[in-house]
Amino acid sequence: MTIQESHLLVLGGTGTVGSRIAAQLASSSIPALVASRSGTGDNGVIFDWDDRETWYNPYEKVDKGDIKAVYLIAPPRVDSVSVMMDFIDFARERRTRRFVLQSASAIEPGGPAMGKVHAYLRELGTRGEVDWAVLRPTWFQQNLAEQENHVRSIRDESKIYSAAGDGKIPWVSADDIASVAVQMLTSQSPSNTDLLVLGPELLAYEDVSFLIGISMFQILADKRLKKLAAILSEILGRKIVHVELSTAAASKRHQSYGMPEPYANMLSSMDTSIKFGAENRTNDVVLSITGVPPKPFREYAKSVKSVWEPLTVA
Ligand SMILES: NC(=O)c1ccc[n+]([C@@H]2O[C@H](COP(=O)([O-])OP(=O)(O)OC[C@H]3O[C@@H](n4cnc5c(N)ncnc54)[C@H](OP(=O)(O)O)[C@@H]3O)[C@@H](O)[C@H]2O)c1
Repeated sequence: MTIQESHLLVLGGTGTVGSRIAAQLASSSIPALVASRSGTGDNGVIFDWDDRETWYNPYEKVDKGDIKAVYLIAPPRVDSVSVMMDFIDFARERRTRRFVLQSASAIEPGGPAMGKVHAYLRELGTRGEVDWAVLRPTWFQQNLAEQENHVRSIRDESKIYSAAGDGKIPWVSADDIASVAVQMLTSQSPSNTDLLVLGPELLAYEDVSFLIGISMFQILADKRLKKLAAILSEILGRKIVHVELSTAAASKRHQSYGMPEPYANMLSSMDTSIKFGAENRTNDVVLSITGVPPKPFREYAKSVKSVWEPLTVA
């Protein structure tokens, strides 16, 4: 089936942020193709960074009109720079004008991985060849409830592991990142800038542990959940403890969950830099771009608390 309108293209469209962007665009009836290796979902399209034949798929799906803007989320590995630059050029040859890149707060333009792609977009923008924006979100609130390493350690061991020590992080909601992304993809005038996308409050892992522990108490306080007493008896008063790891141990832990070593090393180094204050700031980007205040971690933790409840045999 071909589509006969100008579209947006969301790469990584089944992931944490991409799926939220796709949902927000759909609820506003903004036409978008949602790319992933499986091509699942409404308006899904198969796209694999490692199979360049699939790069044609979104463009072949749009029969009349163009793909106006692309949201770029890198594949989870360090050596993604040249393939992403090649795709940007491929898309430009097909009249895509706007690129919105998801990088990270810890990565400066010109820095490793997405930092190089960031610098490339900025250079093209300076030459007037693209419209661009780079989102640099801090650590996602969703990591704690959607990433297997955290879910399993909180659920099964009442522990959170990191190399971040007591460093503070302005944990941001993936919903808020998606809202900023939608604005950057659809605004009349391009921003041609990068945005640090941060949450509203600074919390160390230790503080997060405390909040998760509190939310477990709130489960007990909710009389409607009395039937869960058997489960709650296991978690009542359960203390969630932050376990500080060395950089090397944090990398090994990531690798034990299947992450390639270079990527695991990069992530655990970023974790360690948090310890020395790298993420210790907030800003008003989410409010100023979307008009809505960023979501606090406590609200998110309450909404997903069930993922941290111990598994029971039926
Ligand atoms: N988590 C954080 O705290 C944090 C903070 C700042 C920045 N970031 C950055 O955010 C990015 C990750 O975003 P996210 O968490 O929203 O994504 P995610 O949940 O990890 O999802 C990754 C997406 O990419 C797709 N994908 C994976 N390999 C692919 C390939 N070879 N070809 C095409 N698509 C592929 C996946 O779909 P399929 O598997 O179905 O193909 C999925 O849609 C990373 O660049 C990370 O550095 C993360």
